[in-house]
Amino acid sequence: MIKRLFKKKDISDVLNEPEENKGELKRNLSAANLIALGIGAIVGTGIFVITGQAAAMYAGPALTISFLISALGCVMAGLCYAEFAAMIPTSGGVYSYSYTTMGEILAWFVGWILVLEYLFACSSVAVGWSGYMLSLLHGWGIPFPEQLAGATFDHLPDGRWVWTGRMINFPAVFIIGVVSAFLIGGIKQSAIVNNIIVVIKVSVILLFIAFGLSYVDTSNWTPYIPENTGGFGNFGWTGILRGAAVVFFAYLGFDALSTTAGEARNPQKDMPKGILISLLICAFLYVSVTTVLTGIVNYKELNVDAPIALAIDHAGEGLAWLSPFIKLGAIAGLSSVILVMMLGQSRIYYSISKDGLLPELFSKVHDKRGIPQNATLFASVATALIAGLFPLHVLSELVSIGTLTAFTIVCISILILRKTQPHLKRPFKTPFVPFVPLLGAVICIAQMIALPWDTWVRLIGWTVLGFIIYFAYGLKHSKLNDK
Ligand code: ALA
Repeated sequence: MIKRLFKKKDISDVLNEPEENKGELKRNLSAANLIALGIGAIVGTGIFVITGQAAAMYAGPALTISFLISALGCVMAGLCYAEFAAMIPTSGGVYSYSYTTMGEILAWFVGWILVLEYLFACSSVAVGWSGYMLSLLHGWGIPFPEQLAGATFDHLPDGRWVWTGRMINFPAVFIIGVVSAFLIGGIKQSAIVNNIIVVIKVSVILLFIAFGLSYVDTSNWTPYIPENTGGFGNFGWTGILRGAAVVFFAYLGFDALSTTAGEARNPQKDMPKGILISLLICAFLYVSVTTVLTGIVNYKELNVDAPIALAIDHAGEGLAWLSPFIKLGAIAGLSSVILVMMLGQSRIYYSISKDGLLPELFSKVHDKRGIPQNATLFASVATALIAGLFPLHVLSELVSIGTLTAFTIVCISILILRKTQPHLKRPFKTPFVPFVPLLGAVICIAQMIALPWDTWVRLIGWTVLGFIIYFAYGLKHSKLNDK
């Protein structure tokens, strides 16, 4: 039994699958599309919301250093992702990599964790989108029914769940519906929509950096590292570290890109480019925005929902013209994060189902559009329900722990596969092995340990639910049983 549970898939089987199966996904994505999808998935709530709060609460102007530290951890994991995505270019991402390195039951565990990450990240960003949209409507004086303007349930600090009196977070459900309609239209169409959104949001950010620079008051940067105010994480160097853990969320999304490897035209060359270039561009944007932001407004005043908008107001008349563009950029920007995360979620269902661990209906590909239609629909309904019913803080906590688990597994899997299959063709090689994967794994594990205990409890609950499904369904229907 133990041997069966840890049975591995042969890498050559995984590589040959696309040719064997009918109704395959279509290979439509160019290198530029992949880089744009990466930026589309990465730039979102992190820069438009979390930056200000993290500067105000943990690191002050030195949040720029936090962004650099967090980028370092992500680049380590990103290099490992790039090796795998080029070597095993399928839609399953880390799930498929684990199937070949650690065996079925661990691959299922990883797939289930990825569902957690993409499902909850997507719902969190949809709730963030709803907040921005409602504030925009409010600003225009357009009334919106209170009953439909927020989560149905809330989780209080004392652990109780309560009904908020509202029916559903309608704007969150609405944006998921719109994004799903584009996804169902096909990957080519989704990539075009994403490209347009990326141009809008990056332009808006660059405008803020370019025009904001002349409004910087350099006295706001002193002290650059505010003195620690007592506890761990309250400014000083420990504050910079906590800031790094918090802004980690801002870099998520490059991993979702790996799930589009099955739809890339030349995944061996283009996946590493897509992952690493999008990550580096985002790191540059984040550090620059933080520099300008903390230069215009004193960090102590930045604990608000829309810090960039606050900085523009602070700059006065001269920058007022930029304000509507920033809101538009944020609303557009969050939509593309939802798009790529939902894409990733549906591709994970598709890949798991192709292996027989989920019902076959999830791997049916639409004849004309070449996308897994049922998986996409399921992802949309599940995400809309969660985003409509629950508040942001409950959703976002689960995202980080899921992602960090996946990153750690990718880093460790690189080491395992280099040992067990040293001669495999590797179009892209992670440099400085074993140091890069080891450092990547250590940084991720350290951040996981720093997360609150109840997040761990929820992760354990999610894992138990996953194993119940595996033993009740997956184990019996696995295609590996026939081999
Ligand atoms: N990186 C994505 C964001 O910041 C998840 O919204």
